[in-house]
Amino acid sequence: MRIDIITVLPELLKSPFEASIMKRAIEAELVEVHFHNLRDYTTDNYKTVDDYQFGGGAGMVMMVEPIDKCISQLKSERHYDDIIYMTPDGTTLNQKIANQISLQENIIILCGHYKGVDQRVRDHFITKEISIGDYVLSGGELGAAVLCDAVIRLIPGVLGNETSALTDSFQDNLLAPPIYTRPRSYNGWDVPEILFSGNFPKIEKWREDQAYERTKQRRPDLLDE
Ligand code: ADE
Repeated sequence: MRIDIITVLPELLKSPFEASIMKRAIEAELVEVHFHNLRDYTTDNYKTVDDYQFGGGAGMVMMVEPIDKCISQLKSERHYDDIIYMTPDGTTLNQKIANQISLQENIIILCGHYKGVDQRVRDHFITKEISIGDYVLSGGELGAAVLCDAVIRLIPGVLGNETSALTDSFQDNLLAPPIYTRPRSYNGWDVPEILFSGNFPKIEKWREDQAYERTKQRRPDLLDE
């Protein structure tokens, strides 16, 4: 998979890709991540990427031209399956969307800033608009990092134990069950006996029941989907 990220603040975005699972995935060549500074696609001396809103109103708007130049350059080099715009009025990210995106070959992620981008960018280039939640960030960069993390860990081979993404919360519209490690007893707080039974079908059944109960209590909305 190849991810091209268009931003006015590459320095805000880079560090999550230089640590953690994402770094490992890049080093293992399971994913390529490229950063494009929108200012490199401007034509004036001030490297202007934004301007005042037509019709008046507070806040600057990101201009079409630098974004067009950048996206068109990338599109001339390869086919993109999706061109994603990070925005608080997009579809809220969930595991299903992350799963879908993880199957793509090449994607572009455009990070918004200021009030956002000129609507014509959204009308003519963007194929998906994604929000990471109902709150407003200063820009799309942190949202893009969240989206990339959620997607990259799903690429086959990225996680050491291939089954571990399959048992994540949300994969069956269920939250994950409780988990325990050593010691077996701490301060008199005991690990459930069943986990030492050696009866794996029974343990699996217990985990499913726990996952269901937890989901029913915390996120009943997931059970309706
Ligand atoms: N940009 C600003 N707020 C955002 C959000 N909630 N999700 C994605 N991108 C954003």
